[in-house]
Amino acid sequence: MYTQSMDTLSAEDKAMEAASKAKLRSADELQSQQRFDARIDAGDFIEAKDWMPEHYRKTLVRQISQHAHSEFVGMLPEGNWISRAPTLKRKAILLSKVQDEAGHGLYLYAAAETLGTSRDQLLDALHTGKAKYSSIFNYPTLTWADMGVIGWLVDGAAIMNQVPLCRCSYAPYARAMVRICREESFHQRQGYEALLTMMTQGTAAQRAMVQDAVNRWWWPSLMMFGPPDAESPNSEQSMRWGIKRISNDDLRQKFVDATVEQASILGVSLPDPLLTWNDTRQHYDMGPIDWPEFWQVVGGDGPCNKERLAARVDAWDNGAWVREAALAHAEKQVAKQAQHAMAA
Ligand SMILES: [Fe+2]
Ligand SMILES: [Fe+2]
Repeated sequence: MYTQSMDTLSAEDKAMEAASKAKLRSADELQSQQRFDARIDAGDFIEAKDWMPEHYRKTLVRQISQHAHSEFVGMLPEGNWISRAPTLKRKAILLSKVQDEAGHGLYLYAAAETLGTSRDQLLDALHTGKAKYSSIFNYPTLTWADMGVIGWLVDGAAIMNQVPLCRCSYAPYARAMVRICREESFHQRQGYEALLTMMTQGTAAQRAMVQDAVNRWWWPSLMMFGPPDAESPNSEQSMRWGIKRISNDDLRQKFVDATVEQASILGVSLPDPLLTWNDTRQHYDMGPIDWPEFWQVVGGDGPCNKERLAARVDAWDNGAWVREAALAHAEKQVAKQAQHAMAA
């Protein structure tokens, strides 16, 4: 997956931002800031060792780590179905998709670490409930059709969100996104193909299962683009910095416009009676999104929030022996090399 434009700052972040704005700056710092602004305006990429404003750094750490957490937590709803996949082919595809998501999480944690925050700090924020991840993964996966619909709609929405990030001004994030987007495209296609098979070769019960899954995932998928632009106060700053290239509402519209035709080829309906083509706008109009539900899930009160977090914390605790063994092995290797160097 899976970024979600959750442009929400914690009280601590807001206080820090205000303090850094109020702070009297040195001439050097002002010059660095001017150089940074000029580079952003020229469309240059910023590398890890380059000077950057503290607010830019913090915004990126928050966004990249939320993205990494989403990839990790996103493995849970699908991992749940690996042992129940209907055929060997579907099992192999799902297994490799879930492994890809783990890889995405790792690239992204590495990108966040280049900004000076350690992996342990990032994971601690997730495990203690301080950090957010995409709210979509707090919904349950009830049937096999959910695997297809997640690929089609959830990975599909992720691609819309993530393709513009390949041109994000922070180079390590942009580079990670290029590879991730290639894999997300496979995820979207495998989901769509699984659904098409069920719709064209399946039984009436299988077709009904697909429709039910579409009905449940449609609205949460639209929420993945984040709150409406008018309620997304940090978007403007992120756009100014070239971290964000397209607004939440514009991305959501692009997704809806692209998905309606795919739904009709598939033979499923989308659960929005107000979804109609607007000839003047040359876009589809859509019905209202249930934002109170979105904020409730983001706030920790969705159907599976507690279960998902508990699964991540368990995985971390149960993996302690692996981390300890890897560290002990690395220390042994260093000692061995030192011994060889002395002997030489
Ligand atoms: Fe994916
Ligand atoms: Fe992913």
